[in-house]
Amino acid sequence: MILVTGGAGYIGSHTVRELRSRGYDVVVYDNLTTGHIEAVGDAIFVKGDLFDVELLKDTFKKYGVDSVIHFAAYSLVGESMTNPLKYYHNNVAGTLALLEAMVACDVKYLVFSSSAATYGDTGEDIISETSPQKPTSVYGMTKLMMEQLMADFDKAYGLKYVALRYFNAAGAHESGEIGEDHNPESHLIPIIMQVLNGKREKLGIFGDDYPTPDGTCIRDYIHITDLADAHIKALESLKSGASSNAYNLGNGNGFSVKEVVETVEKVVGKPVKREIVPRRAGDPAVLVASSDKIKKELGWKPEYDSLEKIVASAWKWHSTHPDGFKTK
Ligand code: UFG
Repeated sequence: MILVTGGAGYIGSHTVRELRSRGYDVVVYDNLTTGHIEAVGDAIFVKGDLFDVELLKDTFKKYGVDSVIHFAAYSLVGESMTNPLKYYHNNVAGTLALLEAMVACDVKYLVFSSSAATYGDTGEDIISETSPQKPTSVYGMTKLMMEQLMADFDKAYGLKYVALRYFNAAGAHESGEIGEDHNPESHLIPIIMQVLNGKREKLGIFGDDYPTPDGTCIRDYIHITDLADAHIKALESLKSGASSNAYNLGNGNGFSVKEVVETVEKVVGKPVKREIVPRRAGDPAVLVASSDKIKKELGWKPEYDSLEKIVASAWKWHSTHPDGFKTK
C-alpha cells in the first residue's frame, strides 16, 4: 500500500490516477487546504494533517503502508518570500513529522516532490543534478532542506528516498477529468486559459527585458502524466533495492513566455490578449533541465514531448472546466 500525501492536489492527484491505473493500492492523505476531494478518484481517502503524527501512524498500520510519495507542501514562490514562517513550518516541520511517523512504523521508502527552485539562478544553460543548489526563494530553500532531512534520515535510519526535482509541471490528464485548479492561480498556462475562457481580461507578461532571444523568461514545461510516471519508476527502483537518489525532470527544451502564448493561440485557434508588465520578483531568466540521468538510470522518457501536446491536454481540461472542480 502506498500513502500519497497531497494526493488531492495537482501533481498528487495525477500520480494517484496513474498508480491506480497500474493496479497499485493507494491511500491519499490530504488536509484539503489547497487540494480537491473530487480529484482523489477511487483511492482510499484520509483527511489529515502532516502534523498529526498519531493519525499518520494509525493510517500506516491500518492499511499496511510500506511506502510514501510526499507532495503535501505550500508552493507559491512569491508568498514564501512574504510569509517564510508558513513555508518553513508547513514544508520543513511538516516533513519532519511525516518522517517521524515513517521511522516509528518502519516505512522505508519515500519519493519526494522536489523542485527546480532548489537550484536558483545557476547561470547554466542546462541544469544537471550536480549543478549547485542555491535557492533564490524561501520556497526553494524549504525543498532543499527537505532533501537534507531525508539524506540524514537515510544515514541514521536507513530510509530510502528519491527526490524528483521538477521544472514546470503543466497539462492535464488525458481523460479531461482532472487538471490544474489553484486559487489564486499564478501559473502561466492556466492563466492564459482563464483569458481564453473570459475569466480574466488579459495576460500580463512579466517583463520582456530578460537576456533571452525575445526578452521573456524561458522555462522547461513537463507534462503531469510524465511526472506521475517518474514517481512510479522511482518508487519501483527503491523497492528493488536502489540507493537514495535525486533526479531532474524536464523535457530539456526551453520555451519563452511569448512562445508559450503563441503555441496556445495555435493549438486553440483563438488570440490571447496580453500586455507587458513589470518583472515578477525572483524569476530567473532561464530554467531548463537535463533529464539524462533519470532516462539512463530509470528508463524514464516523456511521452508528451512537444509543447503543443502539453497545451492541448491543458485546454481539454480548462475548456470543459472553466471554474475548475467547481464547474457544474
Ligand atoms: N508568467 C507571466 N505572467 C503570468 C504568470 C507567469 O509572464 O501571469 C511567466 C513567469 O514570469 C515565468 C513563466 O511565466 O517566466 C512561468 O511562470 P509560472 O508561474 O507558471 O512558473 P514558475 O517558473 O515561476 O514556477 C515553477 C513552479 C514552481 C517552482 C518553479 C521553479 O510553478 O513551483 O517553477 O523555478 F518553484
